[in-house]
Amino acid sequence: MKNSIKILFSLALVLPIMAFAMINNPNDEVITSPVGDDVEAGKALFQAKACFACHGMNAEGNALGPNLTDNFTKSGCSEEDIIKVINKGVAGTAMVPYEAQLKPEEVKALAQFILSIKGSNPANAKAAEGNECK
Ligand code: HEC
Repeated sequence: MKNSIKILFSLALVLPIMAFAMINNPNDEVITSPVGDDVEAGKALFQAKACFACHGMNAEGNALGPNLTDNFTKSGCSEEDIIKVINKGVAGTAMVPYEAQLKPEEVKALAQFILSIKGSNPANAKAAEGNECK
């Protein structure tokens, strides 16, 4: 019960932000050509899909979601692991599956962007969660 209230509360906060981001970035206009530079495309998608709402503008993490720039993870370290968590989400958390709203190449671009910012050490980074990647 307590958890579901937390999730509802998070969504009440986040949905308007996401709606705003989507109005400003109609989905289909994000990537118009085949992904040439995956990292740049991933960075744009991180904004367009409002990932920042729960992970922070610089992916530093916030009250809702974990820091994506450190070397710790709850969902795995490889590009494959990151692709999986974006596609499938994490059941029972605010991390919903994105499979239905992103093309496979977009998910891959997001994963490559996330890998590219590992160790970027942004301001206000959230404390590490999960296991260290070797
Ligand atoms: C509504 C909030 C929310 C939004 C929006 C969101 N996430 Fe998450 N995300 C979370 C939470 C919470 C977790 C941690 C889940 C857990 O407990 O394992 C998470 C986990 C992750 C992880 C795994 C982190 C780890 O520790 O291994 C990745 C990668 C990730 N999100 C990427 C994304 C991307 C990319 C987007 C946008 C397409 C996104 N998230 C949008 C809340 C969110």
